[in-house]
Amino acid sequence: MTTSKNTQNSKIQQEKTFLRFNLGQRWEHMILFLSATVLILTGLPQKYRELSWSQYLLSTPERVELIRQIHHIAAIILTIEAVYHLGLAIYQLSKRKLSAEMFPTTQDVRDAGQMILYLLFIRKDKPKFGRYNFEQKVTYWFIFFGFLFMIISGFLIWFPIFFTQFLPGGVVPAAKLMHSTESIVAVIFIVIWHFYHVHIERLNLSIFTGRLSEQEMKEYHAKELERLERKAGGKDRPGERN
Ligand code: HEM
Ligand code: HEM
Repeated sequence: MTTSKNTQNSKIQQEKTFLRFNLGQRWEHMILFLSATVLILTGLPQKYRELSWSQYLLSTPERVELIRQIHHIAAIILTIEAVYHLGLAIYQLSKRKLSAEMFPTTQDVRDAGQMILYLLFIRKDKPKFGRYNFEQKVTYWFIFFGFLFMIISGFLIWFPIFFTQFLPGGVVPAAKLMHSTESIVAVIFIVIWHFYHVHIERLNLSIFTGRLSEQEMKEYHAKELERLERKAGGKDRPGERN
């Protein structure tokens, strides 16, 4: 009994894990996730006022005001997160430390093509991926630009008098249309694309735990694993030093 427990413990100790997201990145995702969820939950009832749950939530002028205020607070939190994210990227760029790994390359197009062939049973193997695969890059850039448009249009409809001092009046209804429509696009994208990839395709919790197991690295980021192993020069625990 004790021996089998010891063997199990030593197996657990031996299992290599690889750092995928540092604490700052995990916090950023958490803030993004929470603020976006609140914005969706307080925005949609305003868009679909005729639905019964919206009627319940927005049944008095005080409740309407409360929901709008919650929307505005979450909007400020999302904006601060976006400014921090951009500020950090600009700082890293100025120090020549900005990683290029999230930028799309022609290899991503080839990988996407190979993946389609694999899904159609034409190819036997899935493509091997580096640190971020094409799906993860699509997620990042879609949310990056989608939320940027939400922030810009959100401020335009929040402070119309201020902005129409120097912009034509037509920007306000245009911003409202953009905000309202893009919110649906964002919800569909997050629920169908992002949740599918992190929950259904496989349960990936690395954005919360920060780490991936060696098996996950082999299966989903084989090229990155090879790179880390080359960097570690054959030493024992490359992932731990990353
Ligand atoms: C994930 C991000 C967001 C989503 C999904 C979202 C969603 C929505 C939706 C569905 C509406 C109702 C539109 C309609 O009546 O047709 C709305 C209204 C509004 N949103 Fe957003 N929004 C987001 C971010 C923001 C941001 C960042 C700001 C401000 C910077 C903002 C400011 C506003 C304002 C001012 C309104 C008008 C109603 C009010 O005063 O609350 N939103 N939003
Ligand atoms: C409104 C909600 C959310 C937004 C806006 C959001 C946004 C993002 C963005 C922009 C990324 C970076 C791109 C990528 O690596 O795929 C990301 C990564 C990730 N998200 Fe979310 N996310 C949300 C909710 C969630 C939830 C509920 C989970 C729960 C499992 C989750 C799990 C992950 C994981 C595991 C990654 C890392 C994928 C990887 O690169 O290994 N996300 N998310």
